[in-house]
Amino acid sequence: MRLTHVKSVCFLACIVLSLTWLTVYNGNDEAAHPPHPEIIHLYERLLAAEVKGELVSRELSSVLKNLRNLTRIAANNISTNFTDGQIKGSLLSSRLPNANLYLPHLRDKTDSLTPNVVLGHGRIGVSLVLGIPTVKRQKQSYLVNTLHSLLFDLSPSERNDTVIIVFVAEMDIEYVKSVGELIKKNFPRDVHSGLLEVVSPSQNFYPNFSRLRETFGDSKERVKWRTKQNLDYSFLMLYAQSKGIYYVQLEDDIVAKPGYSEAMKTYVRSLASDDWMFLEFSQLGFIGKMFRARDLPMIAEFFLMFHRDKPIDWLLDHILWVKACNPEKDDTDCKKQKGLLKLRYKPSLFQHVGLHSSLPGKLQQLKDKDFGKAVLFTAHSNPQAELSSSLEPYQRHTLERAYLGEDFFWGLAPNAGDFILFSFPVPRTITGYRFRSGNLETNRDWFYNTTVEVLPSDASVRDTLVNGPSPQYKGSHGGFIVIGSFVDGLAEGEIDRRIQPIAAIRLLVHSSSDLWVLLSEIFIKV
Ligand SMILES: *[C@@H]1O[C@H](CO)[C@@H](O)[C@H](O)[C@H]1NC(C)=O
Ligand SMILES: *[C@@H]1O[C@H](CO)[C@@H](O)[C@H](O)[C@H]1NC(C)=O
Ligand SMILES: *[C@@H]1O[C@H](CO)[C@@H](O)[C@H](O)[C@H]1NC(C)=O
Ligand SMILES: *[C@@H]1O[C@H](CO)[C@@H](O)[C@H](O)[C@H]1NC(C)=O
Ligand SMILES: *[C@@H]1O[C@H](CO)[C@@H](O)[C@H](O)[C@H]1NC(C)=O
Ligand SMILES: *[C@@H]1O[C@H](CO)[C@@H](O)[C@H](O)[C@H]1NC(C)=O
Repeated sequence: MRLTHVKSVCFLACIVLSLTWLTVYNGNDEAAHPPHPEIIHLYERLLAAEVKGELVSRELSSVLKNLRNLTRIAANNISTNFTDGQIKGSLLSSRLPNANLYLPHLRDKTDSLTPNVVLGHGRIGVSLVLGIPTVKRQKQSYLVNTLHSLLFDLSPSERNDTVIIVFVAEMDIEYVKSVGELIKKNFPRDVHSGLLEVVSPSQNFYPNFSRLRETFGDSKERVKWRTKQNLDYSFLMLYAQSKGIYYVQLEDDIVAKPGYSEAMKTYVRSLASDDWMFLEFSQLGFIGKMFRARDLPMIAEFFLMFHRDKPIDWLLDHILWVKACNPEKDDTDCKKQKGLLKLRYKPSLFQHVGLHSSLPGKLQQLKDKDFGKAVLFTAHSNPQAELSSSLEPYQRHTLERAYLGEDFFWGLAPNAGDFILFSFPVPRTITGYRFRSGNLETNRDWFYNTTVEVLPSDASVRDTLVNGPSPQYKGSHGGFIVIGSFVDGLAEGEIDRRIQPIAAIRLLVHSSSDLWVLLSEIFIKV
């Protein structure tokens, strides 16, 4: 037991040491520069400890710390340069001075670590950076649904305080462009605001994957897949690192719980100690893991160091091992120590929905049991009203149940002229409204080209407003005044005091749609 520990510990230390040594040599053009005396000293300490068979973790970690310090001082000359949101120069290589050691194929290519920013305005300084690696899948793509779910109920201030990076880990430039187009088409506002970015690696980033060693009984295909995954996550992490305070690793086939952003921030703030290394907001693989952005260079460097050797979740666990475990104590102790560095949040905020893994042929049916049922509607207590609609409800998803907060409303495909009417037999003051269409599972069943209109109880009010100077009421027709419309599935607003009291609110559909309509939130504020 002890011997193997010493061996694995030395294995790690020796790698770090030889890499450091290489750095010093490579850093200089003259071939035979003597190694730094401090490194020789550290090396002697390491050897002495090993010879005596007394390599304890404290000594090891102190050696490692010193080595890290030395390499950092020698080479870390970070120069981040943002101009007009475009990233200039080989940004990532400046963040990871040792990249050429772990990825020797990068040596002759100066731009191999330059990210290819397809969409993005170089947003930085946010609280939350979400990283979503995606690859071309042979079967279904879940990316657009995943993004819908993440953006579904983000408030304007949360939208302002977040960056979502879609990392297209493909070399096929046409494919990368097509993902950019798809995202621009589906989320024009969020791309425009800089919330959503699409990035891919440079053409020279990947090594020749056909020369990998097959280990742990993994097939050639699988070794290639897991090796590439290590590289992809590292690249994404290095790109994300300078953008915000916290980084959350996600995948491209998940759903998020409404309110996930606030829940994560509240949880971080609630923690008594700052000693954690990552927080788990899902118990699956690499989904919903939050890191401090400033730790990302260390983590990515570790992944890169061993990217050929093991899958990424094992490597993440090994980082904890190196940091927390005492090789002279047993597994139980190690688990306990590691547990202090990764804290688990319940219930889970992200669920895996994909069935087909990005590894061709592999089915990925893992589900997070702590996620619970996805929330499909939001209930409110609304004022008493008479409800009517020309839309035919599907099964039990009726307007009445939706209004009472028991379900969502789901209607068959609407035609122009279809409506939903909420009337108040006794006219009343209504200060505002929120109608949200679509939900996490059927997020395109929106109201398109649909207005929100009110009927003032005093008909003369309408004439005054529609013929008056306020341009927003100009488009009104019938006895109703148009006060809003659905934009990206949502209609929300306040109601002018001059219109009160109100006899009815109507949703009016102006063009036919092939898609059904779903109302997951009805909120009439009194
Ligand atoms: C690493 O370097 C910093 C400053 O360069 C110094 O304050 C710190 O003590 C060093 N750490 C070790 C373990 O040598
Ligand atoms: C960074 O590089 C510049 C010039 O290339 C050099 O003058 C400076 O000392 C370097 N800084 C560190 C911390 O090595
Ligand atoms: C950033 O890049 C611009 C032009 O590419 C250059 O003029 C400027 O000096 C650079 N700034 C830093 C801090 O490197
Ligand atoms: C978003 O950020 C910008 C710039 O930091 C700021 O001016 C604006 O008020 C913010 N908006 C919201 C809704 O927080
Ligand atoms: C990758 O390596 C294999 C085996 O060494 C070789 O046959 C192949 O040509 C290489 N591919 C590229 C693109 O260099
Ligand atoms: C909305 O419907 C009206 C009336 O049918 C039509 O003129 C208009 O072009 C539609 N707008 C959109 C964005 O589809």
